[in-house]
Amino acid sequence: MIFRDIIDFLIRSGDLVEFTKEVDPKFELTAIIEKVQKTSNKAVLFSNVKGYKNCRVASNILGNYKRLATVFNIESGEKEIISKLSERWGLIDTSSVSPANTRKVFTKDFLLKELIPVIHHYEKDAGPYITGGIVIAKDPETSVQNLSYHRLQILDNNELNLRITPGHHLGVYFDKAEKLGKPLEIAVLIGNSPSIMLAASTNLPFDWDELKFAGSLQGSAIELISCETINIQVPVDTEIIIEGEILPGIRRPEGPFGDLLGNYTPVMDNHVIKVNAVTMKESPIHYAILPGNVEDIILLGVPIATTIFKEVKKVIPTVKDVVCWPSLFNCNIQIENTWEGQAKQVALAAFGTNMQWMKYCIVVDTDVNIYDINDISWALASRCSPERDIIVVPNIAGFQRDPYKMQWGRVIIDATIPWGLKEEFERKKIPGIENINIESFL
Ligand SMILES: Cc1cc2nc3c(=O)[nH]c(=O)nc-3n(C[C@H](O)[C@H](O)[C@H](O)COP(=O)(O)O)c2cc1C
Repeated sequence: MIFRDIIDFLIRSGDLVEFTKEVDPKFELTAIIEKVQKTSNKAVLFSNVKGYKNCRVASNILGNYKRLATVFNIESGEKEIISKLSERWGLIDTSSVSPANTRKVFTKDFLLKELIPVIHHYEKDAGPYITGGIVIAKDPETSVQNLSYHRLQILDNNELNLRITPGHHLGVYFDKAEKLGKPLEIAVLIGNSPSIMLAASTNLPFDWDELKFAGSLQGSAIELISCETINIQVPVDTEIIIEGEILPGIRRPEGPFGDLLGNYTPVMDNHVIKVNAVTMKESPIHYAILPGNVEDIILLGVPIATTIFKEVKKVIPTVKDVVCWPSLFNCNIQIENTWEGQAKQVALAAFGTNMQWMKYCIVVDTDVNIYDINDISWALASRCSPERDIIVVPNIAGFQRDPYKMQWGRVIIDATIPWGLKEEFERKKIPGIENINIESFL
């Protein structure tokens, strides 16, 4: 499904709220997204953004696991997402297609901030940001292509301040170009298929071409068109493409910005993109992702959970499902408990797969819903003894941007039934409850 088809589908299925009254892109738009995410959690479409009659804005498209399963055609639903996606891990070659000539092309005398809504997300942000943009670039040595999300601060003069976390592949590409004294050509892709979105938030081996990985996720080649001003090919279905280059030898203050931990990241010297061109579909749809909110957590958490699932299963095959929820610092794992001490082994193995995010790993039995924090809390209350089942592993670094060491250490929590006491800890059940329709009794 391409971005536009997802939106049409969500409208038809009643899973999207369309706001047709005028909305101010300064704070009002993000306030509405956040309110929707915390109530119905439907997808959101703004069709009347103040100052931008021709550009709509979407958000929360992948805001819950049910929608994610639907757009990836996983009929068995959210509980199979991780196992089904792990089967799609691979590479499929891309294919080139001719452009349909329906894109609007801006190469001269344009201002980016007039073409796409400049969205101010949070009170103390340094200015308007693009938060749903995927940067595509080619390794200057190998031509392997990388996709990654990056926050982009929009400046008045067609420049963008770009945040690259140290170690991310885009930064490695740029360092290679900069050493040669050259800029790095990039395109920012806004409004893409779910496979491109997930490929962009997945950390893959350095030599994996992420467009080919996206093809493997969708089960067919990603179709590409050439850019207008740079030597990069991009997915044909992209709503908005910003072409440009990261400038060598230049770093500028970027931030503050309300980021995923829920605080403001401080001002940092970050990279600068000079924009050369913009191409867009007729009546394009811009995309905003609120940092740290449900959609962001799903986008980043699903690849992490899939990696944990794949890797831990190699040593402990009884792992049934994994989710990083309700934050990227939590990992809930469901197991078929088959030997004493297994849950703690599973947690230890899971920590070995990811050095960045997971702080708390909670292991539960198959009768606990790992997507439901209330169910997890129930397991913690009834099946976990703090004296015996919680282990703190000290002095281990975690998330990089951590000046106060708040992310150091790991916590293993075994919330499975104590070994040998299955009957004593059997969960109570009301027969037939799954078939009860309350409306029919009113
Ligand atoms: C909405 C969103 C915003 C993100 N913003 C940034 C960012 O500003 N800088 C950054 O380095 N990574 C950011 N990330 C994370 C990277 O895109 C992600 O870790 C990706 O896998 C990095 O690509 P790489 O593994 O190919 O280096 C963001 C992710 C999402 C989903």
